[in-house]
Amino acid sequence: MKKIILKWMVASAALAFTVPQADAQPAAIIPQPLHIEQQDGLLTLRADMTMAYAAECEPQAAYLRQAIIGSTAYRWSTAKKKERADVVLEIDARRVPATEGYTLTIDRSGVKICGHDNGGLFYGIQTFLQLLPPAIHSKAYQPDVEWKVPYVSVSDAPNRPWRGMMLDVARYFYDKEFVKHYIDMMAMYKMNKLQFHLIDDSGWRLEIKKYPRLTEVGAWAGTDQNRLGGYYSQDDIREIIDYAAVRNVEIIPEIEFPAHMLSAVVAYPWLSCTGKQHEVPRQHFISRDLLCVGKESSYEFLADVLEETVSLFPSKYINIGGDEAVYDRWKECPKCQEVMKREGLTNVSELQGYLTNVVANMMKEKGKTVVGWEEIIMRGKVSQPVVAVIWHEVADTIKASETGHQAILSPATNLYLDFPEGKTPGEIKAATWMPPISLEKCYSMPVNDYSPASTVLGVQGCFWSDQFIHGTLLQELPLLNENRSEKYAEYLSFPRLLAVAELGWCDNATRSWQSFKQRLSKQYARLDHKGCHYRVPEPEIVKMTNVGDKVCFELAPSVEGSTIRYTTDGSYPHSHSAIYTGKVTVDRQSDFRAITEIDSRHFSLPIYFEPDFSAYEQYGTFVAEWKPANLSAGKGVWRFEATGKMVGNGTYEISFVRTRGTKSLAFGQLVQYKRDEVLAQAAPTITADASTLTATYRLTQTAFEAGVPFYIEVETDCGADPDAYGYVFVKKVE
Ligand code: ACM
Ligand code: ZN
Repeated sequence: MKKIILKWMVASAALAFTVPQADAQPAAIIPQPLHIEQQDGLLTLRADMTMAYAAECEPQAAYLRQAIIGSTAYRWSTAKKKERADVVLEIDARRVPATEGYTLTIDRSGVKICGHDNGGLFYGIQTFLQLLPPAIHSKAYQPDVEWKVPYVSVSDAPNRPWRGMMLDVARYFYDKEFVKHYIDMMAMYKMNKLQFHLIDDSGWRLEIKKYPRLTEVGAWAGTDQNRLGGYYSQDDIREIIDYAAVRNVEIIPEIEFPAHMLSAVVAYPWLSCTGKQHEVPRQHFISRDLLCVGKESSYEFLADVLEETVSLFPSKYINIGGDEAVYDRWKECPKCQEVMKREGLTNVSELQGYLTNVVANMMKEKGKTVVGWEEIIMRGKVSQPVVAVIWHEVADTIKASETGHQAILSPATNLYLDFPEGKTPGEIKAATWMPPISLEKCYSMPVNDYSPASTVLGVQGCFWSDQFIHGTLLQELPLLNENRSEKYAEYLSFPRLLAVAELGWCDNATRSWQSFKQRLSKQYARLDHKGCHYRVPEPEIVKMTNVGDKVCFELAPSVEGSTIRYTTDGSYPHSHSAIYTGKVTVDRQSDFRAITEIDSRHFSLPIYFEPDFSAYEQYGTFVAEWKPANLSAGKGVWRFEATGKMVGNGTYEISFVRTRGTKSLAFGQLVQYKRDEVLAQAAPTITADASTLTATYRLTQTAFEAGVPFYIEVETDCGADPDAYGYVFVKKVE
């Protein structure tokens, strides 16, 4: 029998995906297995197949039965004798030495999966499912599919033990069915840790029996019929944990303090230094009210809440949050100041280190290891070994190892999935405090130890929900209702979550962006069958060449089986636009627009070329673009969004630069808004009608707040039939 070796080798090596038989597809598994050999031949699954497994494999055997029953309607019975079984599931730590590792063999005699542990066995099942046609993932019966699977021999294990996602259920309450779905999707791609962000300023989502007001009061924003929020009962949590356990996903509860816990302070005002009564915020807000570290009652509260939490969650870890505390309240609080004096602390930030030590010791007694955001190891010496989630500089993992701690790589620049993938106009509204994170940027993050002692446990993607807090942002958008927030979370998480999964599973040398893209193109159909929403990728530009004074485009589909539609007059492509079949030549780059169309149902945004702003460098960074349609004949107002463009307080120069059109245009008074609140106003300092630079303004920003939308409104004055196009730029001058 001819053996096709698909042994995974060095990253850049072009892989020879030789197809052994006309109807056998080369394996396209994510994350890429360590060793996979595809052989000549196909096994066809049948209804009368039998399974054999030991009692310890029962949860995964039940999972496999359930996973295939919907699409195939096959009910595999248990074999009388193991030797006669078509599907054999085993756990054998000697045969498979690596933790979470597995072997999978498919040949004429059937399917054999052997895991190092239950997790490894589950992962062998995932690889088996990914080798079957995508329709296997459907819950609905698929009568027309032949369930053929290639003969393979797989030996696989993860590179890192921590392959995580953080899900922010505090800013937006996802019901338990969505949480289970998210876990199921993580598990499909062999991710094994969920940091469950249960607490934040805008919501407390975990039932704590000793403190009922946490969820009676702290889980809800607004009143009566406008009340938004929700929480998980302890029974809900047990159900989620059981669901995740079968899938080898460990749930690490995150109880945030000393900051990001206003919801608890609303329920029990005595938790804060001031004792002041607040409300659960209905919009994005980072409270400065911290847990008071000078009151005995705060420590009792923490001990009680953490006790109930760790007895509910079997994970050996407990996450204590710890990010973004601003210490003004502690500076002003006599009780907190007393602790500083008593402990001989010189800097107020060391109070956080003090608190971390108290809690880490408390948790050690319970046999739990503390995890938290990087701040927990940056605010004074922490004597117990903890795990820091590094979200700024990856090199800070060195600091973790030098101080006896472990680290998880979760840099916001690459792994925060609440940022958009690109700058295309029409892209979904998402976080703006950093540049977008393309799929490639996410995938290309180097995963190193950054220090000689290997203390980096792995990687973690983060999905924050503050961009649609309580769903309010989506409610404001016409045609969307708050239920769409789940779709929104999926849109932003997928496909990048698959990149994070491969970052954790494969080492740097075995990762290849080219190979990942190719395999990913075949995964979208699986996401469709799983009922998982995702961002449809634009067609891939294979080549863009100048031909004389024209531009020639050569494209490839990013999604297997998709159609590419395009226009050559700069208009937005739609479902009746021309279908791409080969090279297209246009006069100007921006005349060409192309979209991915999947099953006439799903469309991508058009391929987008960011305009070249190099000629405008003196004006600063690009903010917005106006077109004649934004201008009214006569006097009018143009409003545009400037979120993330004037980051931080200071004085800014805002310039309006005309790029096309000759008819009259003048700009008048300019107003800056934070949401609907007027922040600043300015009159133009230069106006030059119909010239290139049309108007410049200076304004001083004193109330900057990250994550809050900012807008600018400017008066316009044109003649009939305005024809001006132009750009707005901003530059920080003081
Ligand atoms: C964080 O993004 N505040 C951890
Ligand atoms: Zn205090």
